[in-house]
Amino acid sequence: TQALRLGIAGLGTVGVGVVKIIRRQAELLELRTGRPLQIVAVSARDQGKDRGVNLSGYEWETDPVALARRDDIDVFVELMGGENGPAKAAVETALATGKDVVTANKALLAIHGQALAEQAEAAGRVIRFEAAVAGGIPVIKALTEGLAGNEITRVMGVMNGTCNYILTRMQSEGLGYNALFEECAQLGYLEADPNLDVGGIDAAHKLALLAAIAFGTKPNFKGIEIEGIEHISLDDIHQAADMGYRIKLLGVAQRSARGLVQRMQPCLVPSDSPLGQLEGGTNMVVIEGDAVEQIVLRGPGAGEGPTASAVLGDICDLARGLRIPTFGQPATTLKKLPAARVGLP
Ligand code: NAP
Ligand code: HSE
Repeated sequence: TQALRLGIAGLGTVGVGVVKIIRRQAELLELRTGRPLQIVAVSARDQGKDRGVNLSGYEWETDPVALARRDDIDVFVELMGGENGPAKAAVETALATGKDVVTANKALLAIHGQALAEQAEAAGRVIRFEAAVAGGIPVIKALTEGLAGNEITRVMGVMNGTCNYILTRMQSEGLGYNALFEECAQLGYLEADPNLDVGGIDAAHKLALLAAIAFGTKPNFKGIEIEGIEHISLDDIHQAADMGYRIKLLGVAQRSARGLVQRMQPCLVPSDSPLGQLEGGTNMVVIEGDAVEQIVLRGPGAGEGPTASAVLGDICDLARGLRIPTFGQPATTLKKLPAARVGLP
């Protein structure tokens, strides 16, 4: 059997996690997909950095676009990050030169996902991005596969591990932002620009992607009302606790008569509710559909192992020949709903 040949751009928290799983679980992955997964070449900025993983046997490309263009890879795995710059150029190049793409880059897809998905479909390729939303929780597979028989009525939840970690540690340890940023960095949770995390932007990128899949609409990041957690103080957290509440950065997307309502903002939730009990970097996504009623998915939302787990899920799908369109339906069929700013029931 022919190996599925991979080029991996980005060897940070997520990229290293992916290489480790492919090395550690080669036999299991081949049994499950029916073919070996072969890393052909990798790319990052600093070739001399010790990354704590054996990279021997892989060719090195300093330029990720050159890696994307290689004719000896089948799948380009983009794990660099960034809305524009090399990530976008490399993904476009990969699609233009006949590769499928797996990425964890929610910023790229929330802004350029529609155009990239159309490019992929015109070229007969797919882009998969399970790792981009809610880390290790297979929420995109849940929406595009397991819940495909449902009309989705609402998607909501906690979608940023950093914010949930900061809010819960502020409450339990009384720690301030600086110490907690350091802990999140150690855990591999932070975006390259942590303002995206605490500003609610990263979680909003994820909400835009979930809403697109759930409602068959074009990703509309700009239509999201966003408020981050930067202004939440220890006092706020303790006062909420005294009244029996926890503060959570909560995202909600649902259709309304006037269009698509999308919000990402700190909310009070009862301390003893499943959302209130969510600790550390854990995420929770609640999906409501006309047939299934409600399902709740909960799990680690960030970090090396959980995020790499989601990337491997996508790679294994491609190795098996499972080619679901980027947003669960052809990109050209996605509708444009107006952004509605109305109160939720
Ligand atoms: P990271 O630790 O900062 O790693 C980024 C990697 O990309 C590094 O290896 C870096 O090279 C490389 N890189 C950056 N710019 C480059 C360029 N111009 N050319 C070549 N290589 C370049 O980031 P990460 O946490 O792994 O995140 C990667 C992606 O996954 C991002 O899109 C992020 O949003 C997403 N994501 C992360 C998590 C998480 O928990 N960390 C979870 C879900 C999704 P050097 O190492 O040489 O500097
Ligand atoms: N910075 C992100 C978070 C990584 O903290 O949730 C996972 O997407």
